[in-house]
This record gives sequence, structure tokens and C-alpha cells, in this order.
Amino acid sequence: MKIILIGFMCSGKTTISSILGNKLGMNVIETDELIRQKAGLTTDEIFQKYGEVGYRELEIAVAKEIKDILNIIISTGGGFVMNNITIGYLKPQAKIVYLHTSFDTLLKRLEGSFARPLFNNKEQAKKIYDLRLPLYKYYSDILIE
Ligand code: S3P
Repeated sequence: MKIILIGFMCSGKTTISSILGNKLGMNVIETDELIRQKAGLTTDEIFQKYGEVGYRELEIAVAKEIKDILNIIISTGGGFVMNNITIGYLKPQAKIVYLHTSFDTLLKRLEGSFARPLFNNKEQAKKIYDLRLPLYKYYSDILIE
């Protein structure tokens, strides 16, 4: 089986997956990292060149490529749940863990973090948060506060 971490930007997916990987002796895959490798560009550059739609297409391609890998922890990008095809590739034989974080906590964390293309202002981010919340809940087997 595999463990997939989902959640909003700065919910702690990368940090938790690395701790979990060490504890369980399992390898960790970062889908954002694979996307960057595939495109040969940074996340910002991908958004600038291909837009969000292009980013999501790369996300689908990466999900398809790794769908048969088992005994692995997969840390996803915050928008992984935006497309049913993407998450659908990985759902079989997976436990999907949603790291739930309040919007206020995310705001505080994002202030001190590197720039994210989809987080240019608070209002836009809140809209994305509200849109995604039910999707994270829908796709997850386990919610961790
Ligand atoms: C995105 C989140 C980012 C990255 C990309 C898009 C999103 O990953 O995939 O910038 O749509 O929320 P993190 O959740 O690791 O920041």
C-alpha cells in the first residue's frame, strides 16, 4: 500500500512525509519535485510559461507515471485534488491523509515562506481554500488536525 498526504500549501505535507518516511523506513516521492524535473523548470517558471492549466497537465502525467509504485509515501502539491483524474490514478491501494490546517494558521505560515504562484493575495487564497476544503475531505481516508 501507499500513503498519500494531501492538504493546502504550507499544511506540512513535505515535513510530515519526511518524518513519516524515516519512521516507517519508506521512500518519499514529492510530486512537485517530479513535475519540476519533468518540465526542467521551477514551479514559478511553469506557471509563467504554461499557466495553471499546464501545471495541472504535468500533475496528471506525473500521477500516471507513479501510479503503480507501492510501499511509498507520496507528498502532493496543494492542488492535487483539483482534478479527479490526478488523484484517481493514485487512490487505489492508498491511504490518503489530509493535513487539515485553519486558514489563519496557513496565513501565518505562508507569510514566512517562499512565494507561491497561487497565493498572491489573501482574498484569492481564501477563495481557493474554501473551494478545496470539501475536496480534501472527500478524498481523504484520515483527517489530521
Ligand atoms: C499549488 C501548491 C504547490 C505547487 C503549486 C500549486 C496549489 O505545492 O504544487 O505551486 O495549487 O496549491 P505546495 O502545496 O507544496 O505548496
